[in-house]
Amino acid sequence: MKPRHFLTLADLSPAELKGLLARAAELKARHKSGASDAPLRGKTMAMIFERSSTRTRVSFEAGMAQLGGASIFLSPRDTHLDRGEPVEDTARVMSRMVDVIVIRAGNHAMLERFAAHSRAPVINALTDRHHPCQLLADVQTWSERRGDIRGQTAAWIGDGNNVCHSWIQAALRFDFNLRIATPRGYEPDAELVRASEGRVTLTDDPAAAVAGADVVVTDTWASMGQEGEKAERLAAFRGFTVDGALMRRAGKDALFMHCLPAYRGHEVAAEVIDGPQSVVWDEAENRLHAQKALLEFLLLGKPK
Ligand code: CP
Ligand code: NVA
Repeated sequence: MKPRHFLTLADLSPAELKGLLARAAELKARHKSGASDAPLRGKTMAMIFERSSTRTRVSFEAGMAQLGGASIFLSPRDTHLDRGEPVEDTARVMSRMVDVIVIRAGNHAMLERFAAHSRAPVINALTDRHHPCQLLADVQTWSERRGDIRGQTAAWIGDGNNVCHSWIQAALRFDFNLRIATPRGYEPDAELVRASEGRVTLTDDPAAAVAGADVVVTDTWASMGQEGEKAERLAAFRGFTVDGALMRRAGKDALFMHCLPAYRGHEVAAEVIDGPQSVVWDEAENRLHAQKALLEFLLLGKPK
């Protein structure tokens, strides 16, 4: 039987995502109460990371330990992938040995090739195209603060990047409105916007995007792999900093979100990310709880 993978948010139905986030809330409460369960005892998770990570690596490893399982972290120098062993062969071999494989890849196509040849579930830990695990934590955080997010409005300000793409898929899956403001030439993928069935609108005016919004989100202007474009991007994104003046145009109690790492003074002002509307530390923490629910779902077929 083909395993379930989590390569984008489109891999889970709205009902499955809802159940998964309900389970994440339960796991969070149990963890805080000091309870310890080990439903994944005897299971092993391999992690292939082609790019740096603080949150994703630590949350997956800590989560797997809390669930009773083991993890193997592999940087490019630790496997033969870097020396030309085909992705397909690596997938066939590793998936006969471990129960789940978490991959952070520079190129989304590598993840898809790996998954196509893996007997074990594959989880996207960020590619150049998507970051679905981030959205599990972000939606969990938003729901914790604001209850049912159906019909609410988020504003994405900045680059139409991988995290933005996952926000677009989340808008369809969780049924909220998403206004995206980018400079011209930095828009998200048009096909994904079309697939959102009218929930996503594009503009190049940050003030128009945030007007009355319930959540304001941003991310770095130069993602991993775009380091060489940094100077050009800093110039192109001038006027797109989320600062106090922009936040005041959003709803009175609007939340500020950022997947982190953040660059204060560029995509966000310190007064906003370190201010009272910011929920960025909750987003980071919820990576742990949401991904524990995801591991359970893929390995044990939960949520119940
Ligand atoms: N938000 C996020 O994925 O952070 P890391 O790159 O530190 O994993
Ligand atoms: N868009 C950023 C997200 C980092 C978690 C990047 O790809 O570098």
